[in-house]
Amino acid sequence: MSFHLRLAATALLGLLPLTNAAYNLAREYKGQNFFSAWDYYGKYDNLTNGDVIWVNQSVAVSNPQLTYINSAGNAIIKVDDTTTVPYNEKRNSVRLTSLDKFNLGTVMVFDALHVPYGCSVWGALWSQGINWPAGGEIDIFEAVNLMTANQMALHTESGCAQADGVTQTGITQVKNCDNNGSNGAGCTVLDANTNSYGEPFAAAGGGVWVTEFAKTGINIWFFSRANVPASLSTDTIDVSTFGTPSASYPASSCDPAKYFSEQQIVIDITLCGDWSGVKSVLESTCPALNGTNTCYTTYVLDPKNYVNAYFELASVKIFASDPSAVVTAAGVTQTVSATGSPHPNAASGMGPTGAVAFGAFALTAMLGLVLQF
Ligand SMILES: *[C@@H]1O[C@H](CO)[C@@H](O)[C@H](O)[C@H]1NC(C)=O
Ligand SMILES: *[C@@H]1O[C@H](CO)[C@@H](O)[C@H](O)[C@H]1NC(C)=O
Ligand SMILES: *[C@@H]1O[C@H](CO)[C@@H](O)[C@H](O)[C@H]1NC(C)=O
Ligand SMILES: *[C@@H]1O[C@H](CO)[C@@H](O)[C@H](O)[C@H]1NC(C)=O
Repeated sequence: MSFHLRLAATALLGLLPLTNAAYNLAREYKGQNFFSAWDYYGKYDNLTNGDVIWVNQSVAVSNPQLTYINSAGNAIIKVDDTTTVPYNEKRNSVRLTSLDKFNLGTVMVFDALHVPYGCSVWGALWSQGINWPAGGEIDIFEAVNLMTANQMALHTESGCAQADGVTQTGITQVKNCDNNGSNGAGCTVLDANTNSYGEPFAAAGGGVWVTEFAKTGINIWFFSRANVPASLSTDTIDVSTFGTPSASYPASSCDPAKYFSEQQIVIDITLCGDWSGVKSVLESTCPALNGTNTCYTTYVLDPKNYVNAYFELASVKIFASDPSAVVTAAGVTQTVSATGSPHPNAASGMGPTGAVAFGAFALTAMLGLVLQF
């Protein structure tokens, strides 16, 4: 059923109040179509100084495969854990950026069975606007080494902070979201649930992160597998039924319309670098470095250190309050809703492909008219 038909049906049946809290499924990246929705970075980590090459798609799908769909139908995104890296070279890993973009009025849902962890490992599920930090950054899952829980954050230009006394289950560490003012940390909230990272996350069957990107603010919920709301596997969600968020950034002290532009999702794993590789950070959860050894010399060369450095994602879904909040990229394989009905480009407004096709049609029609007269 198309978005509009569903809205109409919902309104007619009166099953659900059409409040700000209701969002409809607009995108679902999963299974064989998953990897068509992303751009592969194709260069060494020049952003966080990690000791990896974020390979292009042709390398990622070659042996040893770093992105593939496993036998359970889930997307694997991983660090190379089979190659012994020669000294002074970097290890292969992956950084994916979504081709589609998401505006205010969307909810990003990551369903994961496993997240990367281990000494020197730094994995993240996040989003950012064009022209960072002006377009803002939302860190949904981000953790390093053997930290005991996930850390969420926003990064913005100056003027945005987390409000005092917010209702959230997580623990605020930094309130200033200004990327400069917070020394690059952003406004961070540590999840209170130790099932949000590492071996405990996987042992609990993984979990789901739900991020509401709305005019009223940005809210992140983490649900360990046993607590995932059933509505997340349907076509419509109402975030007001999800309880207290893990992290909450109300618009009162950080207006998303001012500090955030349309977002692209990023999924990446790096090693060492500006966070996991800082000696004091590394040694706070991993063994002390010996002598003159660094994060790189201690861990990166040996593939055995990376058996847990992978994401296993059942799906990434986007729900939208209005279909126009999703900016569809040309060439992204169309996704299928939970009820099996297709969500063609037409249902989410005229994307770039539609616009080009319409332009070509109009031009042809005009030429036809000119030729006739
Ligand atoms: C990283 O590399 C990309 C691609 O070459 C380039 O566009 C970008 O400016 C670089 N960023 C930094 C911070 O060096
Ligand atoms: C992918 O990267 C490899 C290794 O750097 C390079 O040889 C190859 O030309 C690249 N392929 C594409 C399509 O860019
Ligand atoms: C943040 O720091 C960068 C680099 O020093 C500077 O160019 C930029 O103007 C600063 N931004 C703000 C909002 O202070
Ligand atoms: C430091 O050296 C000791 C003794 O060789 C070794 O057991 C330990 O694993 C080393 N620590 C690291 C972080 O490599």
